[in-house]
Amino acid sequence: MFAPFSLGSPAAGVPMQVPNRLVLAPMTTYSSHDDGTIADDELDYLRHRAQTGFGMIITAACYVHPTGKAFDGQWGADADDKLDSLAAAAQAIHDGGSMAVLQIHHGGRMAPSRLCGKVLSASDVKADRPTAETPSPMTEEEIHEVIQSFGDAARRAKQAGFDGVEIHGANTYLLQQFVSPATNLRQDEWGPDGFAFPLAVVDAVRAAVGPTFVVGYRFSPEEAEPGGIDLPRTERLIDALCARSLDFLHVSLGKIDQKSLRGDGDEAVIDRLVRHLGGRLPLMAAGGVKTAADVDAALAHGLDLVAVGRAAISEPDWVACLRGGREPRLKVPSQGHRETCVLPAGLAAKIDAVPGWFERE
Ligand SMILES: Cc1cc2nc3c(=O)[nH]c(=O)nc-3n(C[C@H](O)[C@H](O)[C@H](O)COP(=O)(O)O)c2cc1C
Repeated sequence: MFAPFSLGSPAAGVPMQVPNRLVLAPMTTYSSHDDGTIADDELDYLRHRAQTGFGMIITAACYVHPTGKAFDGQWGADADDKLDSLAAAAQAIHDGGSMAVLQIHHGGRMAPSRLCGKVLSASDVKADRPTAETPSPMTEEEIHEVIQSFGDAARRAKQAGFDGVEIHGANTYLLQQFVSPATNLRQDEWGPDGFAFPLAVVDAVRAAVGPTFVVGYRFSPEEAEPGGIDLPRTERLIDALCARSLDFLHVSLGKIDQKSLRGDGDEAVIDRLVRHLGGRLPLMAAGGVKTAADVDAALAHGLDLVAVGRAAISEPDWVACLRGGREPRLKVPSQGHRETCVLPAGLAAKIDAVPGWFERE
């Protein structure tokens, strides 16, 4: 897990070394300023995780267009006036020696109108949650504008000093809404089957950054709801993504070894995906990794990189603990967690506000 790993498009001939296979998973911090610029305590949070040894840090989801803002305290890459904020984040991560990857995001129907102005999605299918609003199906013009905004955000990431971007195609947000037949009812060229929208985003991003900048794509392999994304669809998406210019794929899971949510087969989903991918691109996954044994088990499934979320919140020195053979703290202290865990204020408050999300001492 501590050996360097080579990423980067072989076609470009410039592989990029990730110092090790441990990745800080993208985690929204709810702490940025209202104008979408990063706060100092978020920089401290990133710098600390980088200094303690992650090979790669993927940032919190960063909205690419004002209509994509999905959370209070989310940060943005939607305009050139965010360049200083982005550069500060890239610098904080590089100060600690990690590879810096910006996660670029549009919330689609998960973005509330009070934050995003107009709620957009592939179709007018409302999310199944109490506060959901009915989205407007995107017009042709809006589709092209949002695709372009992903490219522009990636260009800003590069200008700001990041080493790469991760396109957020997971966790129910806009790109996933276009992939899923449950949320994309379109009959035009942007319908769910050809993956036209996510692929156009990938192409716009690559065109904006050129061949030697790392570009990854995160996806959720299944949706539990009837008519939602299933594993055969995800396998087709993987094939389509492998035919594009990408440097890694990232699977978002609840647990690395979970079985199908839809009862599709008895093997771990990750084993099926690793087999299907067949080494065409490096693969990363997140889901319930807490200990060195969990990392070893994840790598034994054939993953190239292992992403760690909540365990790196409860234990700010998570990688250093593993290196030193120490047990990481796996529960967030009931008090003083902002200081003990080196957390930005908004994230510390959110952890208190959502019982059960994190284990508490
Ligand atoms: C506080 C928090 C914020 C998150 N924000 C994001 C995000 O911005 N982008 C994303 O792709 N996933 C996000 N996730 C999901 C994580 O990246 C990860 O997939 C998930 O927590 C499972 O990994 P874990 O079991 O190691 O925590 C978030 C998770 C948490 C706990």
